[in-house]
Amino acid sequence: MLVAFALRPRTMPDSQTIVAAEQPVHLSHLRNVESFSTIPDPQARSVAVFQEAGRVIQHPRCMNCHPRTDRPTQTDAMRPHSPWVSRGPDDAGEPTLRCSTCHHQANFEASGVPGNPKWKLAPIEMAWQGKSLGEICRQLLDPARSHMNREQLLHHMAHDELVGWAWHPGGRRTRAPGTQAEFGALIQAWLETGARCPG
Ligand code: HEC
Ligand code: HEC
Repeated sequence: MLVAFALRPRTMPDSQTIVAAEQPVHLSHLRNVESFSTIPDPQARSVAVFQEAGRVIQHPRCMNCHPRTDRPTQTDAMRPHSPWVSRGPDDAGEPTLRCSTCHHQANFEASGVPGNPKWKLAPIEMAWQGKSLGEICRQLLDPARSHMNREQLLHHMAHDELVGWAWHPGGRRTRAPGTQAEFGALIQAWLETGARCPG
């Protein structure tokens, strides 16, 4: 099934509603950190490692919650969330229609609605949709847009349970590639090599 996705990502049922600038590839594995040791230049290695981590960052499971509008998106085609919802004053929905009205503490398999105790949109300063990986990378490191320092960023990526949902999304959703631990190791290697960003 995953192989079929990898070869034919655009033939998925709702592909006509694709809104993303670049469609991530649905391969299920991540390259490990050691495999980048063949790149002698640390700066080039840092960029390459981030590009591999970018396969997670730009995956629909992450991007759907990092929109550049007030509305989440849904499915691998990243179509607008249905029913219509808006981030509201605290990114967790309008007072009249909270995210938690439908998204509960955990995935609800009977209905296929995903869930997590912290379910809400990433703040607008952390919007990723429509941006290149280089732009996302620079924004992560920009104190004007992110309240997380490098240590906190690493901890968030490697351990945050809302980020972790992307590997246990429930229903028939495609998982983010690799594991959260492998992803965390890539982010750590990226930071240790100077946190260089793709152009
Ligand atoms: C009235 C019910 C309802 C409300 C309120 C609601 N959602 Fe949803 N949401 C759903 C349903 C149902 C799905 C599953 C759709 C599917 O996968 O086909 C969903 C899916 C999603 C997904 C897609 C996950 C993925 O990767 O495919 C995201 C992201 C999401 N909702 C975010 C939010 C956020 C953020 C809020 C609050 C601002 C919110 N939702 C409010 C019903 C709701
Ligand atoms: C259900 C919604 C949701 C999903 C899914 C989600 N995020 Fe987020 N993300 C958030 C929220 C909310 C914040 C803000 C957290 C905070 O400020 O403490 C955030 C913030 C971040 C940040 C900090 C950005 C910055 O500029 O400082 C990173 C990094 C991040 N998320 C990574 C990911 C990754 C990687 C995935 C997928 C593997 C993912 N997120 C999936 C909601 C989500």
